[in-house]
Amino acid sequence: MPSMASNNSSTHTAKSEFYARRQEIEKHRKALPIAAAEKRLLEEVRNNDILIIVGETGSGKTTQLPQYLFNGGFCRSGGIIGITQPRRVAAVTVAKRVAEECGVPLGQKVGYAIRFDDLTSNSTRIKYMTDGLLLREALLDPYLSKYSVIIVDEAHERTVHTDVLLGLLKTVQKTRSLGARDIVNSDNKKDENGTLLEKDNGIQNTSILKHCQSTKLSPLKLIIMSASLDAQGFSDYFGGARAVHVQGRQFPVDILYTNQPETDYVDAALITIFQIHLEESPGDILVFLTGQEEIESIERLVQDRLPKLPESKRKLLVVPIFASLPSEKQMKVFMLAPVGFRKVILATNIAETSVTIPGIKYVIDPGMVKVRTYDASTGIEPLIIVKTSKAQALQRSGRAGREGPGKCYRLYPENEFEKLKDSTTAEIKRCNLSNVVLQLKALGIDDIVGFDFIEKPDRMAVIKSMELLFLLGALTEESKLSDPVGHQMSRLPLDPIYSKALIVASQFNCLEEMLIVVAMLSVESIFYAPREKLDESRTALKSFSSTDGDHLTLLNVYRASEEFLEKSKQVNSKEKAEKNLRKWCKENFINSRSLKHARDIHSQIRRNVEQMGLQITSCGDDMLPFRRCLAASFFLSAALKQPDGTYRALSSGLTVQIHPSSVLFRMKPECIIFDELVRTNQNYIRNVSRIDYLWLAELAPQFFALQE
Ligand code: CDP
Ligand code: MG
Repeated sequence: MPSMASNNSSTHTAKSEFYARRQEIEKHRKALPIAAAEKRLLEEVRNNDILIIVGETGSGKTTQLPQYLFNGGFCRSGGIIGITQPRRVAAVTVAKRVAEECGVPLGQKVGYAIRFDDLTSNSTRIKYMTDGLLLREALLDPYLSKYSVIIVDEAHERTVHTDVLLGLLKTVQKTRSLGARDIVNSDNKKDENGTLLEKDNGIQNTSILKHCQSTKLSPLKLIIMSASLDAQGFSDYFGGARAVHVQGRQFPVDILYTNQPETDYVDAALITIFQIHLEESPGDILVFLTGQEEIESIERLVQDRLPKLPESKRKLLVVPIFASLPSEKQMKVFMLAPVGFRKVILATNIAETSVTIPGIKYVIDPGMVKVRTYDASTGIEPLIIVKTSKAQALQRSGRAGREGPGKCYRLYPENEFEKLKDSTTAEIKRCNLSNVVLQLKALGIDDIVGFDFIEKPDRMAVIKSMELLFLLGALTEESKLSDPVGHQMSRLPLDPIYSKALIVASQFNCLEEMLIVVAMLSVESIFYAPREKLDESRTALKSFSSTDGDHLTLLNVYRASEEFLEKSKQVNSKEKAEKNLRKWCKENFINSRSLKHARDIHSQIRRNVEQMGLQITSCGDDMLPFRRCLAASFFLSAALKQPDGTYRALSSGLTVQIHPSSVLFRMKPECIIFDELVRTNQNYIRNVSRIDYLWLAELAPQFFALQE
């Protein structure tokens, strides 16, 4: 039968495609610089309980080492190899790649877990996750007993989670090897118990030891991986641990500077993209930008300009990559562009070291990066755009020379490079530590200042965060975790203020509403307003906007989208309904990616609060309880109008202004609370809601009584 014949041949094609792909993958794996070091690395891991591996970006550390260890028998007794990443995107994309390399479906042998998204199962043996997630796991399993190997990847990034994790793992590793040794050699128990553990991070050591014995914990192999060539700091921290280098491969990269400083680097980047596209030989372009908004605006600008080029020059494919991009879209950066097309990847600093994208020949580096900073004296934590460090600039240009000689366009003059800082300041030195303090307290570590950090946070910052946690009711006067609020807050994967808002909302009977609002606040830019369609987007926003402020406006958007989706599902398939929703988003100038992300977060935190036994009720049509709840939760960022129309933030004393994107921008109520402070040339506050001044003293007397 003809149909049979065609069936057979299509199966045949699928099979040969499958084998061709496998062969291609095998070839790729063998060609990676790390492949030559497989045996040596396995030996090193066998011989050293703590090992530091340093290797250039793209040498194959993240994707290959876990596979070597798996094949080398490190999961034999059921243990898991855990690999932490500072970034969600890296954890997801690498897990997908490794699953493909292993020829298994994602979520089986190879899986990933990130906040709000867990794709692992009982059979998972190679597990990629964020560093923050492993810290959360430690709350439930302080000895991380299911892991036989933990690899802290991208340690040079020195995120605050990495730093805390290093301190914690230092103790866990020592305790687990001691526990295991002690079972063998129980005569030494008392001596070892006293001498070895006292120096540790203050965890209740004897109880850990007992636990290790009763559960027969096996020793933990700890591997620290870094792309920076300075392994000494890590080695010293781990008592002179062995460090090995993996040779990388790097082709020369031509560095080009501008003659003058650029006033608008977004515009300069756009011009450079087209200049390369029109004048340079084939090869993909990687552009480093600071965030989702910037990436999406360049994406639109490129799309708008393309049709104006001659037909033969239009083959430019734009692919964005940033943290909150849905994971199916993230994988697009790794796909080859169609024949004749040039790919231009618009990335945040995620593409600096965490993900290696093949095919890059040109890098455009405006020299900027968005970082969170913290001002302990005012307690504010604005996101600001700053210049990169020299180390970052070098990593970025290095991306152009992975597969052959390349070019890097630094969008600043050469003498500016010399003025850059050598390396980036560790995050622990410049962030609000309340989350870290809360987690350490929940782990039973009370002496935060005495904790053995690789780099100590400022004392003042620690004290400020403890104060904040005290004001939120998470800590007692003795600085212990309070019961139940502190314990509940530590269990939620959210910023402490959001966790507190959920707990308060359950008492105000509006948890249903607060879950939605917290999910919407947790994602970047729900709305987008293209410059050329500013009026249209404003009109669209009006249909959702609430005179009470942005929080209720966000609630309205979410509910309207749910309603639309439900209706659409009644007459369409799920896929069609989702597609319609994306269309609806576009018509309403809502960012469908962000909305989807908010929906995912919503379902996870809903599950979290259910598990905690909080009452999920709705305040119905009367929004007063919800607004009072906002005041009771966000009282630390309350602000009062001043005669000139600006606001004074009550806790920091700063003069701030409502951001033009807020629905209250023109209305300017007397008293407000806000969610975020963005510092550009002004102190702008975003996500603002109107409250009654008198509620503050009534609902947050612990703070406002102190102020009098
Ligand atoms: O960790 P390291 O920077 O040393 O390298 P890696 O992330 O393991 O990447 C090794 C190779 O895998 C690179 O050539 C990447 O292009 C490739 N890779 C990929 O094709 N797709 C991914 N999702 C991740 C990596
Ligand atoms: Mg890596």
